[in-house]
Amino acid sequence: MGKGLFISKTVGVVCVVLAAGAVATIIALSVVYSQEKSKNADVEPTSGGTSTAQPTAQPTEPPSNEPWDKYRLPDSLEPEFYTLTLWPRLQKNTDGLYVFTGKSTVRFRCKKETNLILIHSNKLELSLLDNQLARLSAVSDPSPPRIQKSWLQQETQYLVLQLTDVLKADQIYELYTEFQGELADDLGGFYRSVYTEDGVEKVIATTQMQPTDARKAFPCFDEPAMKAIFNITLIHDQNTVALSNSNVLDEFNTTEEGIDVTKTTFHPTERMSTYLLAFIVCEFDFENRMEGDVMIRIFARKKAIEAGQAEYALNKTGPILKFFEEYYNSSYPLEKSDQIALPDFNAGAMENWGLITYRETALLYDPAVSSNGNKERIATIIAHELAHMWFGNLVTLKWWNDLWLNEGFASYVEYLGADYAEPTWNVKDLIVLGDMHRVFAIDALASSHPLSSKEEDIQKPAEIAELFDAISYSKGACVLRMLSNFLTEPIFLKGLQSYLNAFAFGNTVYTDLWDHLQAAVDSSGMALPNNKKVHDIMNPWILQMGFPVVTIDTSSGTLTQKHFLLDPESTPSDFIWDVPIQWMKTGDEKPYTWLHQKEELNDQMRITAEEWLVANVNVTGYYRVNYDDKNWDNLLNQLNQISRKLPFFQTFYVIVFNHNFSNSRANIVPTTRALQTTSYLSKERNYMAWESALDNLDYFYLMFDRSEIYGLLQAYTRRQVTPLFNYFKTITDTWTKDPDGHTEQYNEVNALRMACSSGLTECNELVQNWYKEWMTSPDSNPIRPNLRSTVYCSAIAAGGEEEWNFGWQRLKEAAIAIEADKLRAALACTTKPWLLNRYLEFTLNATQIRKQDATSTIVYIANNVVGQPLAWDFVRTNWQYIFQEYGGGSFSFANLINGVTKRFSTPFDLKQLEQFKEENANIGFGSGTLAVEQSIERTKANIAWVNKNREVVKSWLESELSY
Ligand SMILES: *[C@@H]1O[C@H](CO)[C@@H](O)[C@H](O)[C@H]1NC(C)=O
Ligand SMILES: *[C@@H]1O[C@H](CO)[C@@H](O)[C@H](O)[C@H]1NC(C)=O
Ligand SMILES: *[C@@H]1O[C@H](CO)[C@@H](O)[C@H](O)[C@H]1NC(C)=O
Ligand SMILES: *[C@@H]1O[C@H](CO)[C@@H](O)[C@H](O)[C@H]1NC(C)=O
Ligand SMILES: [Zn+2]
Repeated sequence: MGKGLFISKTVGVVCVVLAAGAVATIIALSVVYSQEKSKNADVEPTSGGTSTAQPTAQPTEPPSNEPWDKYRLPDSLEPEFYTLTLWPRLQKNTDGLYVFTGKSTVRFRCKKETNLILIHSNKLELSLLDNQLARLSAVSDPSPPRIQKSWLQQETQYLVLQLTDVLKADQIYELYTEFQGELADDLGGFYRSVYTEDGVEKVIATTQMQPTDARKAFPCFDEPAMKAIFNITLIHDQNTVALSNSNVLDEFNTTEEGIDVTKTTFHPTERMSTYLLAFIVCEFDFENRMEGDVMIRIFARKKAIEAGQAEYALNKTGPILKFFEEYYNSSYPLEKSDQIALPDFNAGAMENWGLITYRETALLYDPAVSSNGNKERIATIIAHELAHMWFGNLVTLKWWNDLWLNEGFASYVEYLGADYAEPTWNVKDLIVLGDMHRVFAIDALASSHPLSSKEEDIQKPAEIAELFDAISYSKGACVLRMLSNFLTEPIFLKGLQSYLNAFAFGNTVYTDLWDHLQAAVDSSGMALPNNKKVHDIMNPWILQMGFPVVTIDTSSGTLTQKHFLLDPESTPSDFIWDVPIQWMKTGDEKPYTWLHQKEELNDQMRITAEEWLVANVNVTGYYRVNYDDKNWDNLLNQLNQISRKLPFFQTFYVIVFNHNFSNSRANIVPTTRALQTTSYLSKERNYMAWESALDNLDYFYLMFDRSEIYGLLQAYTRRQVTPLFNYFKTITDTWTKDPDGHTEQYNEVNALRMACSSGLTECNELVQNWYKEWMTSPDSNPIRPNLRSTVYCSAIAAGGEEEWNFGWQRLKEAAIAIEADKLRAALACTTKPWLLNRYLEFTLNATQIRKQDATSTIVYIANNVVGQPLAWDFVRTNWQYIFQEYGGGSFSFANLINGVTKRFSTPFDLKQLEQFKEENANIGFGSGTLAVEQSIERTKANIAWVNKNREVVKSWLESELSY
């Protein structure tokens, strides 16, 4: 899946949210499972034949040892082929429900004799066939057994069939089912999405199978290693288009049950996993183009196609596909590549093979409305999904415990694909901000977890869903980037290509990739340090949680490492890593140095009084660096001569900043030293430097924005940012045109956002006037697209009901989701508690806020210092309701919990949080379980930090401001 909901950072008092660009995002996870009952799909167990006993809904406890109480399929059966017909009804039935009906035949091979068939089926109502829930027939066995007893096992989501006799090894059988399910608005399985066009409500039937919801669309062996070929037919209204993974084979008009319909049959798919299937029926239009032999189509609402919103995606898909064909040295495995923008979609995008689904904001672009960040997001997410067409789809991990390799890989190479499509943007550098620094914040907690999980620990759907987190995506990406870097790209690619070639259409475990990389290393003649293998070097990064902080003492030349933990009180582990260190002394690049032990000596790393040394130069290593005082002083001295003397890349700044701040939070360097690194900012114009500094200052705001220190922080920020504000005012001819360059454009937004939020009068007057101008003529928005998020937010924060209502009206009428999203974030910026409370209520009403947007809206509100306690009360009060109603696919509980608790820094906050955990233990936290623990740990660390630093920060700011 693509990176999901956008939960952005907050900066300063105004909770600015840039739903824009990977830079401002955290990965969010999406599919969340609750065991709630669907409205109409609970099927009572049926007995047949000679049996009368009916195992009804099984109590969860105590666990039994029956095969149907285990979450994993037995290894006795293996599917080969499905023939599936589905008919979604886009009108309500007489019970007021949207439903679909279907028929499916699965042909399977028996590998081990068994008298039991287990096949996944969830929330489907199965028809009785000869008094059983399925019909069994033999393809090769001359005397097949009959079904003796059949029932649905709700907890483990199986259709269970007990047979009169055994299925014989190496024989082939077929199982036929007929069923009905609800086409609910729950964003999982086969579901419905709704939009309005020309005043008419339109319903779409669409799918999201990953990870475990194919079983909600039809009975299937729903595990990634159970690959099969699918013959799919969709029955649909004659005015609609039907899409699936492969091309249309045949299409004709007919009648079914007296209704005029079209029957569309698709070519057999390639051999593939169930979680990559997709079926869509809609009234969309498309734009298309050939790239070599591959047909590329972008589907969207008719109005969006008419307005040209698909053009950017169409322009970029071909080149990105071509890039990956070369990168993987493997031609695109399918005949067509469809991509479709859906009004209701839970994650960011989903890599269904040949039919990729997206949120509208992740695919549709309009230069008159979209910012450069929106554009970057589209390019990277397309690259992410197309990367999966090989890595993930052609070659698939055997089980979900290795999800990190699939998602980490795509999250790494998305930058490479986007860089190819937009070579002037330098997006490759942005992984440091977009992934590494974000995940450092989580991976620095003692309640983090290793990349790799044990297969036996990942069983239930909720356990699988919990893996779609920042660790899998962002840490996975960083660790693979580090690996590609120290192996060098040619060797990495050689191993990767041979891995894909060896396992095409099959399944793997992560060590298979290591084996192929090792073979590439061996054949290249390259030697890894200490004669280690890829496997040995990577294991500590994969199997241990966290990351090291490397300390370089430039007077003794000693290198040391220890596990970096944000909370200085937490018990240190004795983890060590093999750390590849790229470093540079006073501008000279040095060869890789490796740190294998806790402590090593490297004489070359000593410096003279004037020299300076910097390690992890391009930030390709997944670790932090700290230095001795002398070197820090020399480095800070270099900073003050910025952009004249320092010859090297932007990311250098990032290291200095970020490492100083986080090191100070973890008590490794004094807070004042961290603060000192911001004092030169008034001279800084570089985006990476500013972004990094603001990211870190944000922590100070979160901790102090309800205290006396807030005023000082504001005055200091205002002083530092004013020159940047003036700089952009000049180069944009008084805010009338975009600056040149992708990151310059981002930095213009930073300047405006921080100047306004820190209370620079000129800035606030400027943006409020723009907004007023817009209010007087709603049809001509005078605000440049790049600036809209921040301008809307500042203006709504400064305004009252009228400004808010105007924004809400524009949101409802927005012709493109990207514009609606900007407004949705900005509406959370108001400082009026009653407006915020009303807005919170909207989040639980799908006619006001789409379910896909509910969590992120609550988190936007919590980002606002006024909204934070309201959002927390709201979540606490409504937890049970939220969990039940929004459990099935629409809520990202981890983001929600992290979002509403991130300001927590008092013993009282901690008590409330612990109480929340206790009171809701019986309801549960689903995929947010770990996030509750992480929030508690973070709160404790914050309490300690604030106690220790309140006075220090206050007096530092006072003395700094008194000059
Ligand atoms: C699947 O469809 C193809 C194309 O129509 C056909 O040749 C093949 O026999 C079908 N397979 C099965 C098992 O029905
Ligand atoms: C089916 O009928 C519809 C409506 O009359 C028509 O637009 C469509 O082209 C027909 N499709 C086929 C495959 O004949
Ligand atoms: C798509 O490419 C065409 C041809 O290069 C170009 O004219 C057009 O502006 C591009 N559209 C977008 C939205 O980038
Ligand atoms: C760092 O990146 C720059 C620019 O991409 C490159 O020229 C340089 O060789 C890299 N340095 C190292 C040590 O990899
Ligand atoms: Zn993905």
